[in-house]
Amino acid sequence: MIARIAILFVLLAVVTASKPYKGYKVYEVQQKTRDQAEFLHHLEQSNENLDFWHLSKHLDNNAQVMVPPHEQRSFVAGLMRNGFQFNVLIDDIENTNDEYEALAPRKPTSAEDSILHNYLRHSDINQYLDGLAERYSPKISVEQIGTSHEGRPLKTITINADSQNPIIFLDAGIHAREWIAPATALYAINQLVEHATENADVLSNITWVILPVVNPDGYEYSHEHDRFWRKTRKPAGKCIGTDGNRNFDFHWGEIGASSNACSDTYRGDAAFSEPETQAIRDVLLKFKNRCKFYLSLHSYGKYLLYPWGWTSDLPETWQTIDEVAQAGANAINEATGTKYTVGSSTNVLYAASGGSDDWALDVADVPITIVMELPSGGFGGFNPPAQAIEESVKESWIGIKAMALKVSQMLNTID
Ligand code: ARG
Ligand code: ZN
Repeated sequence: MIARIAILFVLLAVVTASKPYKGYKVYEVQQKTRDQAEFLHHLEQSNENLDFWHLSKHLDNNAQVMVPPHEQRSFVAGLMRNGFQFNVLIDDIENTNDEYEALAPRKPTSAEDSILHNYLRHSDINQYLDGLAERYSPKISVEQIGTSHEGRPLKTITINADSQNPIIFLDAGIHAREWIAPATALYAINQLVEHATENADVLSNITWVILPVVNPDGYEYSHEHDRFWRKTRKPAGKCIGTDGNRNFDFHWGEIGASSNACSDTYRGDAAFSEPETQAIRDVLLKFKNRCKFYLSLHSYGKYLLYPWGWTSDLPETWQTIDEVAQAGANAINEATGTKYTVGSSTNVLYAASGGSDDWALDVADVPITIVMELPSGGFGGFNPPAQAIEESVKESWIGIKAMALKVSQMLNTID
């Protein structure tokens, strides 16, 4: 009996404990030549134990790589052999995670206050949406557009639900660990609903549909068990999870998307194998011809990216999309000095097919589709401390609003 209880405790500990990141380091690596960039790109594709937090084609952009303890010797040896300059950005991830936990979040005084100062859990986010729909009906409505693998409701909030305006569809959190993305979507919702007069210019002829957490199973898992979880949580082969942003049915699985279920960029068993990507598919098809702008929030990197992600070619209409993205980048730069890089995702980062942006442009016929890679904060990386949320979401909202305004001014010329 006692032994059984002991086993139960051990099991519980294993099931509930957070993944330890003791001794994990984050390296910042300078790529000075094409060969060096090629080396890093190859490493990213071939070693699933290395987590490239950031990697771009551009030689002036440093790579950031999280390396587990047992890989460090060979990783560093490889860098030295190839003449890289590098430094250690984070010496021990576990310590920064501890430091963040020690920074107690302050007690929120209102829903708005808690959006600005905390990373809300999925159930709290849905509760906030439901509360708004209750208070502001029929202008605001909440719909369940699907259910995650683990059974969480995927809820969108519709702003100007009582009209037939062109639609802007905004989503966030397809990648679980990018917490600042759902936080930014929530701030956008807060602004559009609770500060409607200040934002009248992007509400007069537009209906917004916002899905603040695309991948709630992964999001919750990254809160409870593994801070750097990226994928969905549905088992796949001998591993768990699919990269939602490699799972869309447009050039699915062709490039920059892994067929190895244990990889962080696993494309899935089939296109649209995940209920979370199916939900976006169905909503965008439902609004085909009405949706004019699809904006997907990610972190991190300060990029405004547009199709294609599967080829270095540009879509025929790239100049219109570029104009919208530039409007966002300029507005942010004028307001705070923060500089975003604008371009097609293949040309700025690397080719990766099966992304929601490419699919939305080609299949759902959304004329403007953009991925916004928000800034990192704090020590860099995926975990800006809760203290950094307010400044970050306010800055990002300036850019989102400027892009929405640009789109609303273009409505007569895009279709
Ligand atoms: N960092 C994002 C990702 O890896 C960029 C996506 C850009 N779009 C694309 N279709 N590749 O998912
Ligand atoms: Zn992402």
